Amino acid sequence: MSILTETFTLANGVTIPKVGFGTWQMPEGAQTQGAVEKALELGYRHVDTANAYGNEASVGRAVRAAMKDLGLAREDVFVTSKLPAAVKDHDGAAATVDESLTNLGLDHMDLYLIHAPWPWSTPDQSDDAGNLAAWSALEEALAAGKIRAIGISNFAVHDMQNILDHADVAPAVNQILSYVGFTQPENTAFAQKHGMVVEAYSPLATGGLLRDPVLAGVASAHGVTPAQVAIRFCIDRGVLPLPKATSEDHIRANAQLDFQLTEDEVRTLAALPDADPSHYHVDSQR
Ligand SMILES: NC(=O)c1ccc[n+]([C@@H]2O[C@H](COP(=O)([O-])OP(=O)(O)OC[C@H]3O[C@@H](n4cnc5c(N)ncnc54)[C@H](OP(=O)(O)O)[C@@H]3O)[C@@H](O)[C@H]2O)c1
Repeated sequence: MSILTETFTLANGVTIPKVGFGTWQMPEGAQTQGAVEKALELGYRHVDTANAYGNEASVGRAVRAAMKDLGLAREDVFVTSKLPAAVKDHDGAAATVDESLTNLGLDHMDLYLIHAPWPWSTPDQSDDAGNLAAWSALEEALAAGKIRAIGISNFAVHDMQNILDHADVAPAVNQILSYVGFTQPENTAFAQKHGMVVEAYSPLATGGLLRDPVLAGVASAHGVTPAQVAIRFCIDRGVLPLPKATSEDHIRANAQLDFQLTEDEVRTLAALPDADPSHYHVDSQR
């Protein structure tokens, strides 16, 4: 069985493929649709988009095309989207869920996440009451069958605790920045302890870590590329990677993950200095 079809099981029993295809910075249009279709043709079964990426329509067209051309059933493809970080009220969140469904042209999403606990204009200033209001709308959409699982993204311990303390449904997923040399151990452990699957966004540090010499050494020991090691590093830590690629060579290579890192290699890679400190980093102490 390919790693692309292996699954984690979310707290509510829904299964989620262990590798997702990222689509940030892929504009609405034929190129993005083509990249997602290519990914599905090459065996990816999980696509990650967001309302804020502006490309839900392209992702939806690609999924529907794959159902027609590759004979996939809707349940064969796991589709995640996200509530824009600025939407922190119940009615706005409910309306945006419907907008995402319309954009995608699908009758349900598999996972919908609050994109961040604060609007991107004021990072680190969590809106606890707003997150609970938005979450209640996601809970209703879950109950209505519009979404099969609900979760959060960029939530630190404080933000997770706020939802756990006050909501009826616990988040199934926390999607956070995580790559070789920047693994957010505290947020990861807290999320996993509370039953969330942790997804690693930017597993290649948006391309920034691929020249690291230690990563290159591990890659050459396995006869693979640094990108493949960086993706496998997530899986071997029990975290779900979301590599993004537009080039067909990258899309194909990132699906070839049929090797395993040793415990020593995982430890060495986790302890590397952050190769891309310029990346925005969520403060785990907040
Ligand atoms: N929740 C959030 O707040 C959040 C934030 C950021 C990202 N995300 C999610 O996580 C996904 C991945 O993160 P990301 O977009 O930052 O990027 P990433 O996956 O860390 O890196 C993508 C970059 O690496 C390049 N690349 C991909 N495969 C490669 C390979 N095999 N060899 C060499 N270069 C390779 C890509 O090039 P090409 O495109 O040219 O192929 C692209 O420039 C996003 O697309 C999105 O779905 C979520």
